[in-house]
Amino acid sequence: MEDKKYDVILFGATSFVGQILAKYLTEQFGVDGEVKWAAAGRSGSKLDMVKDSLGPAARGLPLLIADARDEKALLDLCRQTRVIVSTVGPYALYGEPMVKACVESGTDYCDLTGEVPWIKRMVSKYEKQAEASGAKIVHCCGFDSIPSDLGVYFLQQQAKEKFGEPCEHVKMRVRKIRGEFSGGTVASLLNVVKEVRENPALRKELANPYSICPEGHGFSARQDNINSAKFDPDFQSWMAPFVMAGINTRVVHRSNALSGNSYGDAFRYDEAVLTGKGVKGGAGAFGMMGFMGGFMLAAALKPTRWVLERYVVPKPGEGPSPESQKKGMYDLRFYGETASGQSIRCKVTGDEDPGYGSTAKMLGQAAVCLAKDVAKIDKKGGFWTPSTVMGDKLMKRLVANSGLIFDVIENQ
Ligand SMILES: NC(=O)c1ccc[n+]([C@@H]2O[C@H](COP(=O)([O-])OP(=O)(O)OC[C@H]3O[C@@H](n4cnc5c(N)ncnc54)[C@H](OP(=O)(O)O)[C@@H]3O)[C@@H](O)[C@H]2O)c1
Repeated sequence: MEDKKYDVILFGATSFVGQILAKYLTEQFGVDGEVKWAAAGRSGSKLDMVKDSLGPAARGLPLLIADARDEKALLDLCRQTRVIVSTVGPYALYGEPMVKACVESGTDYCDLTGEVPWIKRMVSKYEKQAEASGAKIVHCCGFDSIPSDLGVYFLQQQAKEKFGEPCEHVKMRVRKIRGEFSGGTVASLLNVVKEVRENPALRKELANPYSICPEGHGFSARQDNINSAKFDPDFQSWMAPFVMAGINTRVVHRSNALSGNSYGDAFRYDEAVLTGKGVKGGAGAFGMMGFMGGFMLAAALKPTRWVLERYVVPKPGEGPSPESQKKGMYDLRFYGETASGQSIRCKVTGDEDPGYGSTAKMLGQAAVCLAKDVAKIDKKGGFWTPSTVMGDKLMKRLVANSGLIFDVIENQ
C-alpha cells in the first residue's frame, strides 16, 4: 500500500449527504484508527460546524480547505490521500476539476453522481490518462447504482453456480421503497434536464442503453425501456417507470463490458417499480407514470422550472430529517432467465432512506474498500463500476456494516 497521510479524504463534508457520511465514518472508524481520514470543503467555518456536530469522537478530525475550482488545492488534497470521496455536486457543474486532479495524480476516487452525460464526458476525456496514472475512478457509489450493479453481479454469480450459465435477461423491480429527495439530488436531476434542453444531441445519448460502455463494445441487443405503465407477468404485478433506471441500467451494461461480457453478448436488463395487482395496481402505475412525466415536463420549461425550484423542491443543503432517514428502506427484486430457459430470483434490501442514510453507508464503505481492500497492482487505473472493481469485497462490507442483504429467493 502507498505511504499516504490519509486513507480517505471526504471532499464536500458540508453537503447534506457529506454530513451524514462524516457521522457514519466517525461512528464506524473513529478518525485516526484503522481508517485515517480527513474532511474537506471550501468553507472553514462550515467545516468547523460539521466537526462540532460529530462530538468528542471527532476531536482529532483534520479539516482541509479546497474550492472545487482551485486545481492546485485539489492536487494538494490528492497528494495526501489514497482515495478522494466526493459529495460536491451537481457533478456536471463542480465535479470535473477533482476528477482531473485524481487522474493526474494517480489517486483513486469515488462519488455519488448519477449524471450520465457527465460520466460519459469524464470517461471520454480522462480514461487514457487514468489508465496511465493508475487512478481508479468509480462513479455511482450510492443508491444509484450500487444495489442494481451488485444485485445483478450477485444474481449472475448464483446463476452460473446453479445452471453453469449466466442469465441472458435480468429484470429489477422495486418492490418497496421509502425515502425522500435532497436539494442536491434534485439540483443534479434538474441540471441534466437543462443540459438536454440546451443540447438536444444529448437526448439521443441518454436514450442509448450502452452510452457509457467502452468504445467498440459490440453490444446490440435491443433493451426493454420501460417508459409506460404495463403488467409484468413474471412478477404478477403492474409496473411503472423507475426514475433511477436511466443511470442504473447504463452502469450494469458497463459492468458487463468491463468484465469481458461475463453476463453474455446478448444480455438484457431493465428496471421498473411494482405497483400491485388488479385495478388498484394499474391505477397506481398510470398515476406514477403521469406524475413523473409531469415533473420532467415542468423541469424542462423555464417558467415551471422556476416555480419548482422556488416553491416545490428542497433547496441545495436541505433533505429528509434524521427520523425520516431512519424510517426509510428499500426492497429490490431481481428475476433472471438463462438462454436455456432456467430462471432464478434474488433480492437486495437496505435499511434507512435509500438516497441518504443508506447511500452514505454505501459510499463510505466503497471509499474504505478502495483504500484498504483493492491493491494498486490488483486493478489497473481507469473508469470502473462498483461491481467490477470491488465486487465481493464491497458486498462483504455492505452486508457486515451497511444494512444491505443479498439473498436468493427459493421456492419461486
Ligand atoms: N447517487 C445517489 O444515490 C445520491 C444520493 C444523494 C445525493 N447524491 C448526489 O450527491 C451530491 C450531493 O448531494 P447533497 O444533497 O448532499 O448536495 P448539497 O447539500 O447541495 O451539497 C453540495 C456540496 O457541494 C459543495 N460545493 C458547491 N460548490 C463548491 C465549490 N466551488 N467548492 C467546494 N465545494 C463546493 C457545497 O459546499 P458548501 O457547503 O460550502 O456550500 C456542499 O458541500 C449531488 O450531486 C446529488 O445528486 C446522489
